Amino acid sequence: SASEKGGWSSFMAKEISEEPEAVANTILGRVHDGLVSLKELEPIGDEALAGIDRIVIVACGTAAYAGMLGKYAIEEWSRIPVDVELSHEFRYRNPIITDRTLVISISQSGETMDTLMAVQHATKAGARVLSICNTQGATIPRESQAVVYTHAGPEVAVASTKAFLAQVTALYLVGLHLGKVRGTQTDEQIRENVIELQAVPEKIAEVLSVSQAEIGQLARWMTDTQSVLFLGRNVGYPVALEGALKLKELAYIHAEGFAAGELKHGPIALIEPGQVVIVVVPSPRDPHSLHPKVVSNIQEIRARGARVIAIAEKGDAAVLPFADEVIPIPLAGSLFEPFLAVVPMHIFGMELAAAKGLDVDQPRNLAKSVTVE
Ligand code: G6P
Repeated sequence: SASEKGGWSSFMAKEISEEPEAVANTILGRVHDGLVSLKELEPIGDEALAGIDRIVIVACGTAAYAGMLGKYAIEEWSRIPVDVELSHEFRYRNPIITDRTLVISISQSGETMDTLMAVQHATKAGARVLSICNTQGATIPRESQAVVYTHAGPEVAVASTKAFLAQVTALYLVGLHLGKVRGTQTDEQIRENVIELQAVPEKIAEVLSVSQAEIGQLARWMTDTQSVLFLGRNVGYPVALEGALKLKELAYIHAEGFAAGELKHGPIALIEPGQVVIVVVPSPRDPHSLHPKVVSNIQEIRARGARVIAIAEKGDAAVLPFADEVIPIPLAGSLFEPFLAVVPMHIFGMELAAAKGLDVDQPRNLAKSVTVE
């Protein structure tokens, strides 16, 4: 009903507006003296965590893209190798698991059958199993050794938005906890990262207030678009995949996300005049930044007639001459940029679906939680 939506045009519009709180509430109570301590990890224990030699993240849909982002942060901070697998692929190929494997499942609902089966399989094979879930007491957390709940609040729209950001937040907290337990991060480094993470909600709020109108306008121009490509590198790559998924799910537009470095190995053949390409541009400030490489990708596709929409750090003058539209995001450390770059993706999917007159909250053929294999 209209009152449940709190005056918003859809649950999704309401849930996107709640993205800042979803992140803030997931951090709440988990930072002490500037460091992360997750008492939820006690059933596994810091000693066992210190001995973990491999992490496998299992999830489906949007949650799997949150998992891909978690990989970058957890590897960086804990130096433990992380693989991300779709639950149904992991379950049916005799994966290599030992008692030093930590399996992390991610599920908003906690009821996705494919992910539940992966959790049960991992448990039987002797792995430690940690679940990240948004629903208290759901089946997956009940079957896991440890649970870190995301506090995004109930999510009604079928396509996940605020829960995705909360999942990434939870994974980053796990990464910082592991960095401490394993001594791969100094307290000072952890504190700096915690400060970055705590600054995210306010920056998301800024993205929401700055970009909503511009993206709505773009969406109204694009209702006849047949295909949209998304490019990103490093942490921008999962953001590109998430942007493409949202367009497929919500606006029924053929969309694909690519790692920008892969462009020259195939996807560039798809570029013809008028092709819309949305590019996640990393910050130019980081000395190790892939910024020049992404800008040169933009030049290559522009030269072939692509219409480029860039999601770039505000003040990034280098992209301006080559992009048809720039959606600015606030400054953040490179691992934290995805929290900001993904928000325009969510708005874009929603606005384009709405502009096409589609049901934003309940796309055809999809269910909020898929409880069959
Ligand atoms: C369904 C939904 C997706 C969601 C996926 C995983 O397919 O349509 O939006 O990402 O399930 O759901 P979960 O509850 O496990 O996060």
